[in-house]
Amino acid sequence: MRGSVRGVPGDRHSYRVCARIELSGGKMIKVALIGIGHVARYQIEAMSNVDGLILTDAYDIDPSRAKNLPASVVFHETLQDLISNSKADIFLISTPNMTHFEIGMEVIEKGRSVLLEKPICTTQEELEMIIEASEKKGVFTSVAFHASFAQDVDWWLNNNNGNELGKLLGFNSGFFDPYITKGKVSPISKSLGGSWIDSGINALSVISKFIHPSTLKITEARMTSIEGIECQQVQGLSIFSFKNEGHCGHGVIDTNWSLNVNRKTTRLWYENADILLHHSLESVFRVEGDSAVLIKDLRNNNARLTNHYTSLFVQLTTDYTQGKQNIKHAAMIHELLFSAMSERDQYLVK
Ligand SMILES: NC(=O)c1ccc[n+]([C@@H]2O[C@H](COP(=O)([O-])OP(=O)(O)OC[C@H]3O[C@@H](n4cnc5c(N)ncnc54)[C@H](O)[C@@H]3O)[C@@H](O)[C@H]2O)c1
Repeated sequence: MRGSVRGVPGDRHSYRVCARIELSGGKMIKVALIGIGHVARYQIEAMSNVDGLILTDAYDIDPSRAKNLPASVVFHETLQDLISNSKADIFLISTPNMTHFEIGMEVIEKGRSVLLEKPICTTQEELEMIIEASEKKGVFTSVAFHASFAQDVDWWLNNNNGNELGKLLGFNSGFFDPYITKGKVSPISKSLGGSWIDSGINALSVISKFIHPSTLKITEARMTSIEGIECQQVQGLSIFSFKNEGHCGHGVIDTNWSLNVNRKTTRLWYENADILLHHSLESVFRVEGDSAVLIKDLRNNNARLTNHYTSLFVQLTTDYTQGKQNIKHAAMIHELLFSAMSERDQYLVK
């Protein structure tokens, strides 16, 4: 698959450009995958859909995961072996959210380029250390914001013609996963940390396609954990204000693991109608009053995550060859993520 993916508003300002990377004619970008878990299946399938990119190497702390790799991929027994012996151009770090920082630092400090799964890390201090190390080593450092590559997001960015709907006044994003049932976090979700750290970043990455993150301010947040339920946030909610075309807008991001609901949506409030980007259904609706009218169904035979990663890797091939990394943009989004997690906003239910 070939194609282009529309950029973020204000991209030129938020992308940091590192040295242009020379790949001689027809040469493929080689990727090494670190972490062969749930999402790897979609990443591997997506890579096989994209010209100019190839998975060559992989490593997982659990060697039994090697069985999930295509036969052509070399599995390494240790991270050190992977970093020292792989000829990969980019190391995709797709391990549990709490481990991105440590593994990312190790790879960057060895002078190798990284594509970090979201969130890059879990604190503002770690974020600053990653940026400092990346600048010092001069390596390509980008973040895989898969949710922002949803087909519905891309379609609406390309089809919101003119000002028919007027200014964007606000938004309401709901990112809900059914990861807590019977008062327990499902074992496969523990590695994701909590609803806000895992999904707040996804919602923010979508919103940042419509509203430049530098204009978003958090006015209030609430991160709720419940004693005995092993996750950082059962629910994470944040309220935003922003400036858009001289107008002061407002928005809400709500993430929750305890509703037994698997649904991700972003509702954009324009002056003349609301647009519902239904990420789970890969569809776009126009909402007026009580009725939601389907205006585009983008589903195809691929899984939603395969579609996300296919578009993400198409963009990566261009960005990598042009030395265009999204770390500066990613930093702004993560600052909002962490700011909502400040101590004053934590609620522990006993
Ligand atoms: N689960 C999803 O739907 C989804 C979607 C998009 C992005 N992501 C992101 O992808 C990443 C991985 O998520 P997942 O759901 O695949 O997690 P997972 O827990 O299913 O898989 C993580 C893998 O990393 C391995 N691992 C753990 N510690 C390691 C270490 N120190 N070194 C090497 N390997 C290690 C584990 O053995 C496992 O195979 C996360 O950052 C998550 O935010 C997940």
